[in-house]
Amino acid sequence: MWQGRIGVLALVVVAFLAGIPMCAAGGGGGDNQLEVYSWWTGPGEEEGLDAMAREFEAKNAGVTFVNAAVSGGAGSNAKAILASRLLANDPPDSYQRHAGLELEDDVRSGKVRDLTALYDREGWRDVLPKGLLDNLTIDGRIYAVPVNIHRANLMWYTPATLDKLGLAGPPKTWSEFLEQAEKIKQAGLTALAIGPQWTQKHLFETVLLGELGADRYQQLFGGSLRWSTPEVGAALATYQKVLSYSDLRSASGDWQPQIDRVVQGTAVYAVMGDWASGYLEGPKKQRWQQGYAAVASPGSDGVYSFLSDAFTLPTGARNPELAEKWLIECGSTEGQNLFNPKKGSIPARIDADAKLYPGYLGWALGQWRDKRTRIVGSLAHGVVANNAYNAEIDSALGLFNQTGDLPKLASTLDSTYEATR
Ligand code: GAL
Repeated sequence: MWQGRIGVLALVVVAFLAGIPMCAAGGGGGDNQLEVYSWWTGPGEEEGLDAMAREFEAKNAGVTFVNAAVSGGAGSNAKAILASRLLANDPPDSYQRHAGLELEDDVRSGKVRDLTALYDREGWRDVLPKGLLDNLTIDGRIYAVPVNIHRANLMWYTPATLDKLGLAGPPKTWSEFLEQAEKIKQAGLTALAIGPQWTQKHLFETVLLGELGADRYQQLFGGSLRWSTPEVGAALATYQKVLSYSDLRSASGDWQPQIDRVVQGTAVYAVMGDWASGYLEGPKKQRWQQGYAAVASPGSDGVYSFLSDAFTLPTGARNPELAEKWLIECGSTEGQNLFNPKKGSIPARIDADAKLYPGYLGWALGQWRDKRTRIVGSLAHGVVANNAYNAEIDSALGLFNQTGDLPKLASTLDSTYEATR
């Protein structure tokens, strides 16, 4: 245990020196403290977590919620620090994971507890969508409690900038985007704002989805379509062209500054998940279809590329009883309705009151519940690739940014898929 704490201390020092804000150092948690680990430190998302935390404390008198969030979009810092804590058997009482293959790794390595009995007690199987439950279930047992559904395949813009440029609407296909992008470039603006590496992977999956379509996208990540086929090669070439109209070379900061450039009008579009709506509606005080708008990313109309934030009960948690109470909060109607409107996501539960979700979220809820909508899973946010493959994709995309070598990218992704299965 002490070794674990020393390891965590070292990481905290590293995080401090690297300037990574951590809300609370690892290893917290007295008898009446619940340490919850996530990466929600930004405006909007932090308020969402806080709203749920306050209700948890109100329902559990005398218990303190210790927010151990580590900043960095998509868990870019939090996941690495968490991995070290898990290795040192020093887990928080509950930590954020995405539904899907990202969670599977923790289950296979025995890091998280089976929550099937809790699901039975709370009746959650009746109030969560089957597809989501499937992504939380391994060998018939369920391992995490989802708080929300996010949509990844969205393109954000402001009506004012399109008007100024005389663009009739956002592009419906990536080739239409490329046509617009050339005009935007000539007008002296950036066609596509981009952020750190994970946002590039987010764009990457979005271009693949739009170019290949939902079936082929699923086959690609399911292993039955190879990266080195001409069809995928053409989609990769589109990604390269799209990237060339972005501000990749000068992009700095996380996804919030990426969205800021669209709001300011120096960039026209950004591909991002709908946590952007929480940020835009809350701290940025923009209104849906007035100050900002979003559509399905090019080529993906009618498709909902989903991801879901869920919380776990780690083996070796200091306060498993409190952690279970936290999970009950996460799975409750009240908790989800406090959290999601601020976070910019729709509830995981199917029985949520649609009236609480106006503006963008109302539109999202309508699409999610529409039987005709095709649902696929996000790559960058853990649904369709396990952690090892996702890490290989990160390295391959990083190298690709330097070399621009498309055949090499495809062959690396083929071979690493096989090696990380
Ligand atoms: C995702 C996460 C979202 C949001 C986003 C940006 O991975 O599921 O809730 O935090 O990253 O950080």
